[in-house]
Amino acid sequence: MALRVIGMLAVAGLAIFCATAWQDPGTSATTPTFYKDVLPILQDHCQSCHRPGEVGPMPLVTYQQTRPWAASIAHAVEMKMMPPWFADPRYGHFANDVSLTPQQIATISAWAATGATAGDERDAPPPRRWAQGWNIPQPDLVVTMPKAVQIPARGEVEYTYEIVPTHFAEDRWVQMSEFRPGSPAHVHHAVVYIRPPDSEWLRHAPVGEPFTASTLNDPLERREAHETTSELLLVYAPGSSPDKWPGGMAKFVPAGSDLVFQMHYTTNGTADQDQTSIGLIFAKTPPTQRVITLQLNNYALIIPPGVDDFRVEVQGTLPNEATLLSLFPHMHLRGKRFEYDIVHDDGSVEILLRVNYHFHWQLSYRLAAPRPLKAGTRLRAIAWYDNSKNNPHNPDPTKTVTWGDQTSDEMMVGFFDVAVPAAMDKWKFFVRHGDEKPRQEQKR
Ligand code: HEC
Repeated sequence: MALRVIGMLAVAGLAIFCATAWQDPGTSATTPTFYKDVLPILQDHCQSCHRPGEVGPMPLVTYQQTRPWAASIAHAVEMKMMPPWFADPRYGHFANDVSLTPQQIATISAWAATGATAGDERDAPPPRRWAQGWNIPQPDLVVTMPKAVQIPARGEVEYTYEIVPTHFAEDRWVQMSEFRPGSPAHVHHAVVYIRPPDSEWLRHAPVGEPFTASTLNDPLERREAHETTSELLLVYAPGSSPDKWPGGMAKFVPAGSDLVFQMHYTTNGTADQDQTSIGLIFAKTPPTQRVITLQLNNYALIIPPGVDDFRVEVQGTLPNEATLLSLFPHMHLRGKRFEYDIVHDDGSVEILLRVNYHFHWQLSYRLAAPRPLKAGTRLRAIAWYDNSKNNPHNPDPTKTVTWGDQTSDEMMVGFFDVAVPAAMDKWKFFVRHGDEKPRQEQKR
Protein backbone atom coordinates (compact mmCIF):
# COMPACT_ATOMS: atom_id res chain seq x y z
CA MET A 1 0.00 0.00 0.00
CA ALA A 2 2.82 2.35 0.89
CA LEU A 3 4.06 2.22 -2.68
CA ARG A 4 0.76 3.39 -4.10
CA VAL A 5 0.50 6.24 -1.65
CA ILE A 6 4.02 7.37 -2.48
CA GLY A 7 3.23 6.96 -6.18
CA MET A 8 0.13 9.08 -6.00
CA LEU A 9 1.79 11.81 -4.01
CA ALA A 10 4.63 12.01 -6.47
CA VAL A 11 2.29 12.13 -9.45
CA ALA A 12 0.15 14.78 -7.85
CA GLY A 13 3.26 16.83 -7.06
CA LEU A 14 4.43 16.57 -10.63
CA ALA A 15 1.08 17.67 -12.00
CA ILE A 16 1.10 20.77 -9.84
CA PHE A 17 4.64 21.54 -10.90
CA CYS A 18 3.79 21.22 -14.59
CA ALA A 19 0.66 23.30 -14.26
CA THR A 20 2.67 26.13 -12.75
CA ALA A 21 5.37 25.85 -15.37
CA TRP A 22 2.75 26.00 -18.10
CA GLN A 23 1.22 29.16 -16.70
CA ASP A 24 4.54 30.84 -16.23
CA PRO A 25 4.03 34.25 -17.89
CA GLY A 26 7.54 33.96 -19.35
CA THR A 27 6.46 31.00 -21.51
CA SER A 28 4.76 31.91 -24.72
CA ALA A 29 1.91 29.44 -24.43
CA THR A 30 0.42 30.22 -27.80
CA THR A 31 3.37 29.63 -30.14
CA PRO A 32 5.96 27.34 -28.65
CA THR A 33 9.36 27.36 -30.35
CA PHE A 34 11.87 24.62 -30.98
CA TYR A 35 14.74 25.98 -28.93
CA LYS A 36 12.75 27.10 -25.94
CA ASP A 37 9.94 24.57 -25.62
CA VAL A 38 10.52 21.50 -27.76
CA LEU A 39 14.25 20.82 -27.51
CA PRO A 40 14.22 20.32 -23.71
CA ILE A 41 11.56 17.61 -24.18
CA LEU A 42 13.54 15.94 -26.97
CA GLN A 43 16.68 15.93 -24.83
CA ASP A 44 15.00 14.27 -21.87
CA HIS A 45 12.62 11.89 -23.62
CA CYS A 46 13.79 11.18 -27.16
CA GLN A 47 17.53 11.65 -27.75
CA SER A 48 18.52 8.53 -25.83
CA CYS A 49 17.31 6.76 -29.01
CA HIS A 50 17.03 9.56 -31.57
CA ARG A 51 20.64 10.64 -31.97
CA PRO A 52 23.28 9.40 -34.41
CA GLY A 53 24.22 5.76 -33.84
CA GLU A 54 21.17 4.87 -31.73
CA VAL A 55 18.06 2.78 -32.50
CA GLY A 56 15.75 5.64 -33.49
CA PRO A 57 15.45 5.91 -37.30
CA MET A 58 16.33 9.65 -37.36
CA PRO A 59 18.24 11.99 -35.05
CA LEU A 60 16.20 14.64 -33.23
CA VAL A 61 19.09 16.75 -31.98
CA THR A 62 19.16 19.90 -34.13
CA TYR A 63 16.36 22.06 -35.49
CA GLN A 64 17.31 21.12 -39.05
CA GLN A 65 16.99 17.43 -38.22
CA THR A 66 13.73 17.80 -36.36
CA ARG A 67 11.79 20.30 -38.50
CA PRO A 68 10.88 17.86 -41.33
CA TRP A 69 9.47 15.42 -38.76
CA ALA A 70 7.29 17.93 -36.90
CA ALA A 71 3.96 16.49 -38.05
CA SER A 72 4.91 12.87 -37.46
CA ILE A 73 6.41 13.75 -34.08
CA ALA A 74 3.15 15.41 -33.07
CA HIS A 75 1.21 12.37 -34.26
CA ALA A 76 3.54 9.89 -32.51
CA VAL A 77 3.31 11.68 -29.15
CA GLU A 78 -0.44 12.33 -29.39
CA MET A 79 -1.05 8.63 -30.09
CA LYS A 80 1.38 7.78 -27.23
CA MET A 81 3.42 5.67 -29.65
CA MET A 82 6.51 7.64 -28.69
CA PRO A 83 8.35 7.54 -26.41
CA PRO A 84 7.79 3.80 -25.96
CA TRP A 85 6.29 3.18 -22.52
CA PHE A 86 3.67 0.56 -21.79
CA ALA A 87 2.95 0.63 -18.06
CA ASP A 88 -0.68 1.24 -17.14
CA PRO A 89 -0.41 4.66 -15.42
CA ARG A 90 -2.88 3.59 -12.72
CA TYR A 91 -0.32 1.33 -11.06
CA GLY A 92 3.10 1.99 -9.65
CA HIS A 93 5.53 4.80 -10.23
CA PHE A 94 8.74 4.20 -12.15
CA ALA A 95 12.07 5.97 -12.19
CA ASN A 96 12.61 5.30 -15.91
CA ASP A 97 9.13 6.43 -16.94
CA VAL A 98 9.89 8.44 -20.07
CA SER A 99 6.27 9.11 -20.96
CA LEU A 100 5.23 12.70 -21.60
CA THR A 101 2.84 14.72 -19.48
CA PRO A 102 -0.33 16.02 -21.16
CA GLN A 103 1.28 19.48 -21.06
CA GLN A 104 4.38 18.28 -22.92
CA ILE A 105 2.23 16.61 -25.55
CA ALA A 106 0.20 19.80 -25.91
CA THR A 107 3.41 21.82 -26.34
CA ILE A 108 4.63 19.58 -29.17
CA SER A 109 1.21 19.58 -30.86
CA ALA A 110 0.97 23.37 -30.65
CA TRP A 111 4.51 23.73 -31.99
CA ALA A 112 3.78 21.52 -35.00
CA ALA A 113 0.43 23.23 -35.61
CA THR A 114 1.92 26.74 -35.61
CA GLY A 115 4.58 26.22 -38.26
CA ALA A 116 7.20 24.40 -36.17
CA THR A 117 9.26 27.56 -35.71
CA ALA A 118 12.85 27.62 -34.53
CA GLY A 119 12.64 30.58 -32.16
CA ASP A 120 15.71 32.14 -30.62
CA GLU A 121 18.73 29.87 -30.40
CA ARG A 122 19.76 31.63 -27.19
CA ASP A 123 16.72 30.04 -25.50
CA ALA A 124 18.15 26.57 -26.13
CA PRO A 125 19.12 24.43 -23.14
CA PRO A 126 22.79 23.37 -23.10
CA PRO A 127 23.24 20.35 -25.39
CA ARG A 128 23.01 16.98 -23.68
CA ARG A 129 26.38 15.24 -23.35
CA TRP A 130 26.31 11.57 -24.27
CA ALA A 131 29.16 9.09 -24.13
CA GLN A 132 29.74 8.17 -27.78
CA GLY A 133 27.89 4.93 -28.40
CA TRP A 134 26.58 4.55 -24.85
CA ASN A 135 23.67 5.68 -22.72
CA ILE A 136 25.69 5.06 -19.57
CA PRO A 137 28.78 7.21 -18.94
CA GLN A 138 32.00 6.00 -20.60
CA PRO A 139 32.31 2.33 -19.50
CA ASP A 140 35.26 1.15 -17.40
CA LEU A 141 35.26 -2.05 -19.42
CA VAL A 142 33.72 -3.11 -22.71
CA VAL A 143 33.27 -6.86 -23.20
CA THR A 144 32.69 -7.87 -26.81
CA MET A 145 31.77 -11.31 -28.09
CA PRO A 146 35.10 -12.53 -29.52
CA LYS A 147 33.58 -13.87 -32.76
CA ALA A 148 30.76 -12.51 -34.90
CA VAL A 149 27.70 -14.73 -35.34
CA GLN A 150 26.36 -15.20 -38.88
CA ILE A 151 22.60 -14.71 -39.02
CA PRO A 152 20.77 -16.15 -42.01
CA ALA A 153 18.14 -14.22 -43.97
CA ARG A 154 15.28 -16.51 -43.00
CA GLY A 155 14.20 -19.32 -40.74
CA GLU A 156 14.50 -19.85 -37.02
CA VAL A 157 17.89 -19.56 -35.34
CA GLU A 158 18.64 -21.72 -32.34
CA TYR A 159 19.77 -19.78 -29.27
CA THR A 160 23.42 -18.95 -29.75
CA TYR A 161 25.95 -18.85 -26.92
CA GLU A 162 29.35 -17.33 -26.58
CA ILE A 163 31.46 -17.76 -23.45
CA VAL A 164 33.83 -14.90 -22.70
CA PRO A 165 36.40 -15.13 -19.88
CA THR A 166 36.68 -11.92 -17.85
CA HIS A 167 40.16 -12.66 -16.48
CA PHE A 168 39.17 -10.67 -13.40
CA ALA A 169 41.95 -11.16 -10.84
CA GLU A 170 39.66 -9.92 -8.08
CA ASP A 171 35.94 -9.76 -7.36
CA ARG A 172 34.15 -6.94 -9.15
CA TRP A 173 30.92 -5.06 -8.44
CA VAL A 174 29.02 -3.78 -11.45
CA GLN A 175 27.18 -0.53 -10.80
CA MET A 176 25.94 0.10 -14.34
CA SER A 177 25.79 -1.99 -17.47
CA GLU A 178 24.53 -1.55 -20.99
CA PHE A 179 23.97 -4.00 -23.79
CA ARG A 180 24.84 -2.85 -27.34
CA PRO A 181 23.60 -5.29 -29.96
CA GLY A 182 25.86 -5.53 -32.99
CA SER A 183 22.80 -6.02 -35.20
CA PRO A 184 19.85 -4.43 -33.35
CA ALA A 185 17.38 -5.58 -36.01
CA HIS A 186 18.21 -9.25 -35.32
CA VAL A 187 18.61 -9.44 -31.56
CA HIS A 188 15.18 -10.35 -30.22
CA HIS A 189 16.44 -10.69 -26.70
CA ALA A 190 19.61 -11.69 -24.91
CA VAL A 191 20.79 -12.63 -21.46
CA VAL A 192 24.35 -12.30 -20.18
CA TYR A 193 25.02 -14.78 -17.38
CA ILE A 194 27.81 -14.78 -14.82
CA ARG A 195 29.59 -18.15 -14.64
CA PRO A 196 31.74 -18.24 -11.50
CA PRO A 197 34.87 -20.41 -11.58
CA ASP A 198 33.25 -23.10 -9.39
CA SER A 199 30.23 -23.48 -11.67
CA GLU A 200 29.89 -26.66 -13.73
CA TRP A 201 27.50 -25.03 -16.18
CA LEU A 202 28.49 -25.63 -19.82
CA ARG A 203 31.98 -26.64 -18.69
CA HIS A 204 32.62 -28.69 -21.80
CA ALA A 205 31.32 -26.10 -24.22
CA PRO A 206 33.78 -24.13 -26.38
CA VAL A 207 35.07 -20.81 -25.10
CA GLY A 208 35.37 -17.68 -27.23
CA GLU A 209 33.33 -18.89 -30.17
CA PRO A 210 29.63 -19.20 -30.95
CA PHE A 211 27.82 -22.49 -30.34
CA THR A 212 24.26 -23.73 -29.94
CA ALA A 213 22.94 -26.28 -27.46
CA SER A 214 22.32 -28.93 -30.14
CA THR A 215 26.02 -29.00 -31.02
CA LEU A 216 27.06 -30.02 -27.49
CA ASN A 217 28.03 -33.67 -26.98
CA ASP A 218 26.92 -34.06 -23.38
CA PRO A 219 23.10 -34.55 -23.26
CA LEU A 220 22.96 -33.05 -19.76
CA GLU A 221 24.76 -29.92 -20.93
CA ARG A 222 22.47 -29.74 -23.95
CA ARG A 223 19.44 -29.63 -21.68
CA GLU A 224 21.03 -27.39 -19.09
CA ALA A 225 22.05 -24.76 -21.61
CA HIS A 226 18.56 -23.33 -21.14
CA GLU A 227 17.95 -24.20 -17.51
CA THR A 228 20.80 -22.61 -15.67
CA THR A 229 20.54 -21.21 -12.17
CA SER A 230 23.53 -18.94 -12.90
CA GLU A 231 23.20 -15.33 -11.88
CA LEU A 232 22.21 -12.88 -14.61
CA LEU A 233 24.40 -9.88 -15.24
CA LEU A 234 21.90 -8.25 -17.58
CA VAL A 235 18.91 -8.92 -19.77
CA TYR A 236 18.29 -7.13 -23.04
CA ALA A 237 15.38 -6.68 -25.38
CA PRO A 238 14.73 -3.83 -27.83
CA GLY A 239 13.96 -0.63 -25.99
CA SER A 240 15.38 -1.81 -22.68
CA SER A 241 17.31 0.84 -20.84
CA PRO A 242 20.72 0.21 -19.26
CA ASP A 243 20.94 -1.07 -15.69
CA LYS A 244 21.93 1.66 -13.25
CA TRP A 245 21.73 0.37 -9.71
CA PRO A 246 21.16 2.79 -6.83
CA GLY A 247 24.19 3.83 -4.76
CA GLY A 248 25.38 1.09 -2.43
CA MET A 249 23.87 -1.63 -4.64
CA ALA A 250 25.59 -3.54 -7.45
CA LYS A 251 25.84 -6.87 -9.25
CA PHE A 252 28.60 -9.18 -8.12
CA VAL A 253 31.05 -10.81 -10.53
CA PRO A 254 33.43 -13.16 -8.68
CA ALA A 255 37.11 -13.18 -9.67
CA GLY A 256 37.81 -15.54 -12.55
CA SER A 257 34.21 -15.61 -13.79
CA ASP A 258 33.20 -16.06 -17.40
CA LEU A 259 30.37 -14.12 -18.99
CA VAL A 260 28.02 -16.27 -21.02
CA PHE A 261 26.14 -14.44 -23.78
CA GLN A 262 22.89 -16.19 -24.65
CA MET A 263 21.56 -14.63 -27.83
CA HIS A 264 18.13 -15.07 -29.34
CA TYR A 265 18.27 -13.94 -32.96
CA THR A 266 15.27 -13.62 -35.22
CA THR A 267 15.47 -13.36 -39.00
CA ASN A 268 13.94 -10.63 -41.16
CA GLY A 269 14.79 -11.43 -44.77
CA THR A 270 18.26 -9.85 -44.65
CA ALA A 271 21.31 -11.81 -43.58
CA ASP A 272 23.70 -10.07 -41.22
CA GLN A 273 26.27 -10.74 -38.58
CA ASP A 274 26.17 -9.82 -34.92
CA GLN A 275 29.01 -9.10 -32.57
CA THR A 276 27.46 -7.70 -29.44
CA SER A 277 29.22 -5.72 -26.70
CA ILE A 278 28.35 -4.85 -23.16
CA GLY A 279 29.71 -1.85 -21.28
CA LEU A 280 30.36 -2.07 -17.54
CA ILE A 281 30.94 0.57 -14.90
CA PHE A 282 32.28 -0.73 -11.62
CA ALA A 283 31.27 0.48 -8.16
CA LYS A 284 33.94 2.78 -6.77
CA THR A 285 33.49 1.42 -3.24
CA PRO A 286 32.22 -2.03 -2.25
CA PRO A 287 28.42 -1.88 -1.95
CA THR A 288 26.43 -3.01 1.07
CA GLN A 289 23.77 -4.67 -1.06
CA ARG A 290 23.98 -7.18 -3.87
CA VAL A 291 21.50 -7.05 -6.72
CA ILE A 292 20.21 -10.43 -7.87
CA THR A 293 17.77 -11.13 -10.68
CA LEU A 294 14.99 -13.63 -9.95
CA GLN A 295 12.18 -14.98 -12.10
CA LEU A 296 8.56 -15.95 -11.80
CA ASN A 297 8.11 -18.46 -14.63
CA ASN A 298 5.27 -20.69 -15.67
CA TYR A 299 6.68 -23.36 -17.99
CA ALA A 300 3.39 -25.29 -17.98
CA LEU A 301 1.41 -22.87 -20.10
CA ILE A 302 -0.91 -24.35 -22.73
CA ILE A 303 -2.64 -21.67 -24.77
CA PRO A 304 -5.62 -22.97 -26.75
CA PRO A 305 -6.07 -21.89 -30.37
CA GLY A 306 -8.23 -18.87 -31.15
CA VAL A 307 -8.54 -17.58 -27.57
CA ASP A 308 -8.00 -13.83 -27.31
CA ASP A 309 -7.41 -13.30 -23.58
CA PHE A 310 -5.88 -16.43 -22.10
CA ARG A 311 -4.67 -16.01 -18.53
CA VAL A 312 -1.60 -17.74 -17.06
CA GLU A 313 -0.47 -17.13 -13.52
CA VAL A 314 2.40 -18.06 -11.23
CA GLN A 315 2.99 -17.33 -7.55
CA GLY A 316 5.98 -17.58 -5.29
CA THR A 317 6.95 -16.55 -1.80
CA LEU A 318 10.20 -14.78 -1.04
CA PRO A 319 12.42 -17.07 1.04
CA ASN A 320 14.17 -14.10 2.65
CA GLU A 321 13.66 -10.39 2.94
CA ALA A 322 14.75 -8.33 -0.03
CA THR A 323 14.26 -4.90 -1.58
CA LEU A 324 12.40 -4.94 -4.87
CA LEU A 325 14.07 -2.73 -7.48
CA SER A 326 12.69 -3.49 -10.92
CA LEU A 327 10.42 -5.65 -13.04
CA PHE A 328 10.92 -6.97 -16.57
CA PRO A 329 8.19 -9.06 -18.18
CA HIS A 330 9.03 -11.31 -21.11
CA MET A 331 6.63 -13.02 -23.52
CA HIS A 332 6.57 -13.71 -27.25
CA LEU A 333 4.30 -12.95 -30.20
CA ARG A 334 1.00 -13.76 -28.46
CA GLY A 335 1.73 -11.67 -25.36
CA LYS A 336 -1.01 -9.18 -24.52
CA ARG A 337 -0.74 -8.00 -20.90
CA PHE A 338 1.53 -8.76 -17.98
CA GLU A 339 1.02 -7.94 -14.33
CA TYR A 340 3.01 -8.23 -11.11
CA ASP A 341 1.19 -8.28 -7.77
CA ILE A 342 1.77 -8.68 -4.09
CA VAL A 343 -0.89 -10.95 -2.59
CA HIS A 344 -1.23 -9.87 1.03
CA ASP A 345 -1.99 -12.27 3.89
CA ASP A 346 -5.58 -11.00 4.11
CA GLY A 347 -6.04 -11.92 0.45
CA SER A 348 -5.98 -8.35 -0.84
CA VAL A 349 -3.99 -7.77 -4.00
CA GLU A 350 -1.64 -4.88 -4.65
CA ILE A 351 -0.80 -4.36 -8.30
CA LEU A 352 2.84 -3.38 -8.71
CA LEU A 353 2.86 -3.09 -12.49
CA ARG A 354 0.55 -3.78 -15.40
CA VAL A 355 2.04 -3.66 -18.87
CA ASN A 356 0.09 -3.47 -22.10
CA TYR A 357 2.51 -5.74 -23.82
CA HIS A 358 4.17 -4.88 -27.10
CA PHE A 359 6.28 -7.55 -28.75
CA HIS A 360 8.71 -5.10 -30.33
CA TRP A 361 9.32 -3.23 -27.11
CA GLN A 362 10.27 -5.10 -24.00
CA LEU A 363 11.23 -2.74 -21.25
CA SER A 364 12.25 -3.01 -17.66
CA TYR A 365 10.31 -0.96 -15.16
CA ARG A 366 12.39 0.48 -12.34
CA LEU A 367 10.47 1.30 -9.16
CA ALA A 368 10.74 4.99 -8.26
CA ALA A 369 10.89 3.96 -4.61
CA PRO A 370 12.66 0.61 -4.02
CA ARG A 371 10.24 -1.55 -2.07
CA PRO A 372 11.35 -3.52 1.02
CA LEU A 373 9.63 -6.93 1.13
CA LYS A 374 9.52 -9.25 4.13
CA ALA A 375 10.46 -12.92 3.99
CA GLY A 376 7.33 -14.82 3.03
CA THR A 377 5.91 -12.06 0.82
CA ARG A 378 3.73 -13.67 -1.82
CA LEU A 379 4.48 -12.40 -5.31
CA ARG A 380 2.28 -13.19 -8.26
CA ALA A 381 2.75 -12.69 -11.97
CA ILE A 382 -0.11 -12.94 -14.45
CA ALA A 383 0.24 -13.01 -18.21
CA TRP A 384 -2.51 -12.76 -20.79
CA TYR A 385 -2.13 -14.05 -24.33
CA ASP A 386 -4.01 -13.30 -27.53
CA ASN A 387 -3.94 -16.41 -29.69
CA SER A 388 -6.78 -15.18 -31.91
CA LYS A 389 -6.58 -14.10 -35.54
CA ASN A 390 -7.12 -10.50 -34.38
CA ASN A 391 -3.60 -10.40 -33.00
CA PRO A 392 -1.59 -9.01 -35.94
CA HIS A 393 1.62 -10.66 -34.63
CA ASN A 394 0.05 -14.11 -34.32
CA PRO A 395 1.87 -16.49 -36.68
CA ASP A 396 -0.80 -19.22 -36.40
CA PRO A 397 -4.12 -18.78 -34.53
CA THR A 398 -5.03 -22.44 -35.09
CA LYS A 399 -2.12 -23.72 -33.01
CA THR A 400 -2.10 -24.78 -29.36
CA VAL A 401 0.90 -22.93 -27.99
CA THR A 402 3.28 -24.18 -25.30
CA TRP A 403 6.58 -23.07 -23.78
CA GLY A 404 9.51 -22.86 -26.17
CA ASP A 405 12.50 -20.83 -27.24
CA GLN A 406 11.25 -19.56 -30.57
CA THR A 407 8.92 -16.59 -30.88
CA SER A 408 6.28 -18.89 -32.42
CA ASP A 409 6.30 -20.69 -29.05
CA GLU A 410 5.51 -18.80 -25.89
CA MET A 411 7.22 -17.79 -22.70
CA MET A 412 5.98 -16.48 -19.42
CA VAL A 413 8.85 -14.93 -17.52
CA GLY A 414 8.54 -12.25 -14.90
CA PHE A 415 12.12 -11.17 -14.25
CA PHE A 416 12.57 -9.05 -11.15
CA ASP A 417 15.63 -7.54 -9.51
CA VAL A 418 16.03 -7.43 -5.76
CA ALA A 419 18.73 -6.14 -3.45
CA VAL A 420 19.93 -8.43 -0.65
CA PRO A 421 22.86 -8.15 1.79
CA ALA A 422 26.17 -8.06 -0.11
CA ALA A 423 27.38 -11.39 1.27
CA MET A 424 24.26 -13.25 0.18
CA ASP A 425 24.12 -14.92 -3.23
CA LYS A 426 21.20 -16.41 -5.10
CA TRP A 427 21.83 -19.82 -3.51
CA LYS A 428 21.86 -18.54 0.04
CA PHE A 429 18.82 -16.42 -0.70
CA PHE A 430 16.79 -19.54 -1.42
CA VAL A 431 17.58 -21.12 1.94
CA ARG A 432 14.44 -20.56 3.96
CA HIS A 433 14.53 -19.83 7.67
CA GLY A 434 14.05 -23.09 9.57
CA ASP A 435 15.41 -24.96 6.56
CA GLU A 436 19.07 -24.04 6.83
CA LYS A 437 20.35 -27.06 4.92
CA PRO A 438 21.81 -25.61 1.73
CA ARG A 439 20.86 -27.41 -1.46
CA GLN A 440 23.25 -30.21 -2.28
CA GLU A 441 23.04 -29.89 -6.03
CA GLN A 442 26.04 -28.83 -7.94
CA LYS A 443 26.08 -25.30 -9.20
CA ARG A 444 25.18 -25.20 -12.85
C1 HEC B 1 13.67 3.70 -26.56
C2 HEC B 1 14.02 4.34 -27.79
C3 HEC B 1 13.17 5.48 -28.31
C4 HEC B 1 12.75 6.60 -27.63
C5 HEC B 1 13.03 6.99 -26.19
C6 HEC B 1 11.99 7.38 -28.58
N1 HEC B 1 11.96 6.75 -29.78
FE1 HEC B 1 10.97 7.37 -31.46
N2 HEC B 1 11.46 5.64 -32.40
C7 HEC B 1 12.29 4.68 -31.92
C8 HEC B 1 12.39 3.60 -32.90
C9 HEC B 1 13.24 2.35 -32.76
C10 HEC B 1 11.57 3.96 -33.97
C11 HEC B 1 11.32 3.15 -35.25
C12 HEC B 1 10.42 1.98 -34.98
C13 HEC B 1 9.05 2.36 -34.61
O1 HEC B 1 8.45 3.26 -35.25
O2 HEC B 1 8.53 1.77 -33.64
C14 HEC B 1 10.99 5.24 -33.62
C15 HEC B 1 10.11 5.94 -34.43
C16 HEC B 1 9.72 7.26 -34.22
C17 HEC B 1 8.92 8.02 -35.13
C18 HEC B 1 8.35 7.54 -36.43
C19 HEC B 1 9.39 7.72 -37.51
C20 HEC B 1 8.85 7.27 -38.84
O3 HEC B 1 9.62 6.66 -39.58
O4 HEC B 1 7.68 7.52 -39.12
C21 HEC B 1 8.76 9.26 -34.57
C22 HEC B 1 8.03 10.47 -35.18
C23 HEC B 1 9.43 9.25 -33.30
N3 HEC B 1 10.00 8.02 -33.12
C24 HEC B 1 9.51 10.32 -32.42
C25 HEC B 1 9.96 10.21 -31.12
C26 HEC B 1 9.83 11.25 -30.14
C27 HEC B 1 9.25 12.64 -30.42
C28 HEC B 1 10.34 10.77 -28.98
C29 HEC B 1 10.40 11.47 -27.65
C30 HEC B 1 9.21 12.13 -27.20
C31 HEC B 1 10.80 9.42 -29.23
N4 HEC B 1 10.54 9.12 -30.54
C32 HEC B 1 11.40 8.60 -28.28
C33 HEC B 1 12.92 4.68 -30.69
C34 HEC B 1 12.67 5.59 -29.67
